[in-house]
Amino acid sequence: MKVLVVGSGGREHALASQLLQSDTVEKVFCTPGNGGTARLKNCENVSLLVDDFEGILKLIKEKAIDLVVVGPELPLSLGITDYLQEYQINVFGPNKAGATIEASKSWAKDLMIAGGIPTAKSETFTDKESARNYILQEGVPIVVKADGLAAGKGVIVAMTQEEALEGIEELFAQNFGKVVIEEFLTGQEVSVLALTDGKIIRSLIPAQDHKQIGEGDTGANTGGMGAYAPTPLVNDELSDRITKEILEPTLKELQKRGIDYRGVLYAGLMITPEGDPKTLEFNCRFGDPETQAVLPMLKTPLAEVLLACAQQRLADLPPLEWHEGSAVCVVMVAGGYPSSYEKGKVITGIDQVQTEGVTVFHAGTKLLNQEIITDGGRVLGVTCRDADFQSAIKSAYEAVAKIKFEDMYYRRDIGHRIMNKL
Ligand SMILES: Nc1ncnc2c1ncn2[C@@H]1O[C@H](COP(=O)(O)OP(=O)(O)O)[C@@H](O)[C@H]1O
Ligand SMILES: [Mg+2]
Repeated sequence: MKVLVVGSGGREHALASQLLQSDTVEKVFCTPGNGGTARLKNCENVSLLVDDFEGILKLIKEKAIDLVVVGPELPLSLGITDYLQEYQINVFGPNKAGATIEASKSWAKDLMIAGGIPTAKSETFTDKESARNYILQEGVPIVVKADGLAAGKGVIVAMTQEEALEGIEELFAQNFGKVVIEEFLTGQEVSVLALTDGKIIRSLIPAQDHKQIGEGDTGANTGGMGAYAPTPLVNDELSDRITKEILEPTLKELQKRGIDYRGVLYAGLMITPEGDPKTLEFNCRFGDPETQAVLPMLKTPLAEVLLACAQQRLADLPPLEWHEGSAVCVVMVAGGYPSSYEKGKVITGIDQVQTEGVTVFHAGTKLLNQEIITDGGRVLGVTCRDADFQSAIKSAYEAVAKIKFEDMYYRRDIGHRIMNKL
């Protein structure tokens, strides 16, 4: 089959490369792709924007594409799935109504409350005055969230009253319309990505991301600085609870609303000090960089599973099979990220490190005159899969040490939350 991957990040490179490992996949197209997908064997970049639905439809028809896998949330929330399904195209990724679970935090909260899904206590506000009063009444720490898509910049975890009130000012000034204010939770954050065909749901191995730029989880939030999977913070028993208390009830609530959801349901969870899972948010797509750690662990051919989701026959497939061991992904970024940074730096060393078990997933890169140059804030994700977490992390950092570009930065402590617990 021929598959189209929509998007241009590290997640999409990981999707394309994993799809190409399925025997049934002869070719993958990426719109627009990046420097990594440009060099992938049997993969071709087509320079179309992710919201150019007509252009994408034309490409699908021209190349007789059998399956479309949508990476980012933006085209999903704009309705790319609804648009392509009109033409009987197999699409992995929820329709516009389903994508609301990520695009509107207040909508997602309402769904969680209706389904009895464990989450932080919260209130939604449409006017500043009531929001301010609620903060004064509840006290701090407290969390303020923009209702709409904000590319990871819509959440303020406020430790002081000033920060919380400033957050309210900022979000209302940006015209989000609605703001969700919620109880501050403590514990360990994990990401559980699950695949659904709208009828049943199957979770992938649990992962842990590292959101903050600085070591020890300090500093500004980023798109993600590294991930590993599976995380021992979620054992089999907890994983069952997450399925029964969160994933299945969420699917049921979506069904109740008449939503035909075929794609990834990503649950961002806090595991409280008592060991209970609580939902921080849902995303409607694969996580980045969790995908770069989770997919290399998957033994089952990915293309078959995603096509089964798109065709609503996930129940016919045997359970997913996984490799033994662990995978770790260390993200290398441009100096200055997540604030301002430069592009266009030549990257060296990538080909030398791609050995057994190590894969370099490109994010913000492009191919220029046979050289790979930086083209974004998050530049590369270096993934290593090995027999155990300790060996995987060691090899991942050995590979990272051989890759060079001017002003590069990466965290040296990916996996620190479990490092001393294993
Ligand atoms: N209720 C909460 N308590 C503590 N921290 C939170 C809470 N909600 C969110 N956070 C922190 O803020 C980050 C971003 O929040 P999230 O809801 O995932 O929004 P988004 O990913 O859209 O920015 C989370 O990864 C988590 O670290
Ligand atoms: Mg999040």
